[in-house]
Amino acid sequence: MTQAIDLSGRVALVTGAGSGIGRQAAETLASAGAAVACTDINLAGAQETVALIEAAGGRAIAITHDVVEEDQWEAAVRTTVDTLGGLHIMVNNAGIELVKNIPDISVSDFRRVMDINVMGVFLGIKCCTAAMAASGSGSIINLSSVAGLIGAPRQAAYCASKGAVRLMTKATALELAGAGHPIRVNSVHPGIIETPMMEDLMTGVPEEQRAQRIALMTSRHPIGRLGQASDIANAILYLASDLSSFMTGSEVVVDGGLTAN
Ligand SMILES: NC(=O)c1ccc[n+]([C@@H]2O[C@H](COP(=O)([O-])OP(=O)(O)OC[C@H]3O[C@@H](n4cnc5c(N)ncnc54)[C@H](O)[C@@H]3O)[C@@H](O)[C@H]2O)c1
Repeated sequence: MTQAIDLSGRVALVTGAGSGIGRQAAETLASAGAAVACTDINLAGAQETVALIEAAGGRAIAITHDVVEEDQWEAAVRTTVDTLGGLHIMVNNAGIELVKNIPDISVSDFRRVMDINVMGVFLGIKCCTAAMAASGSGSIINLSSVAGLIGAPRQAAYCASKGAVRLMTKATALELAGAGHPIRVNSVHPGIIETPMMEDLMTGVPEEQRAQRIALMTSRHPIGRLGQASDIANAILYLASDLSSFMTGSEVVVDGGLTAN
């Protein structure tokens, strides 16, 4: 017996949908039947994702959206509900890396990472719950990282931000469930995934040492390869669907065994 995930009639909003994991998540949710609002600070990237979804027969819209700005969040949610007819799935995916030694991290560097990676997720949760409750159900999926579970050198700000997302997810899950809202909240913790963000992990690595660094990063994953955006999008698809209806406040680790050591 096979059981396909069917998200027909559901509406999703994916932040940072113009690249990497966000793009793949938007395409995967759309291929399961969801209508998808693809939001990004980079509108051209979001529009490319919409074109890919439409070419595959799906329904999507692109919205310019800086996740740090509350008024842009309110507008993005309003446009999604008005255009696509509701809001059931929120993927708080937009994020940035910062690879620097602590003495080199300026206060503005640190604030920028916390603003986008933490405040952006907080505003997403704050602005979507009323629309989700009105839509009858909700699944909020927050992108944390293995860096929200274990430390990594040269990533103090990034680890702080992803650890915050992990516990904000649990606090929100408890608050919404306790208030009787039909909204689940879970976090996803990818290992190293081959997206444009992986370039940030190569900061300061001389050209002749790139292959060696990639081999080192690969070796940290006992499963023997780096992750692909589709590995994470499939976990997001599961959390978005009713197959995960008993999961809230969970941390879903998709890391090829990296944190099992
Ligand atoms: N790639 C990895 O190895 C990895 C590992 C663990 C966790 N993650 C997390 O997954 C998420 C997606 O990462 P990715 O690898 O696809 O990165 P990416 O750089 O390919 O894509 C990030 C997207 O976020 C957008 N963005 C950046 N700042 C924004 C803002 N202020 N408002 C709206 N959009 C903004 C960018 O324009 C881009 O389209 C991030 O939260 C990241 O921290 C990635």
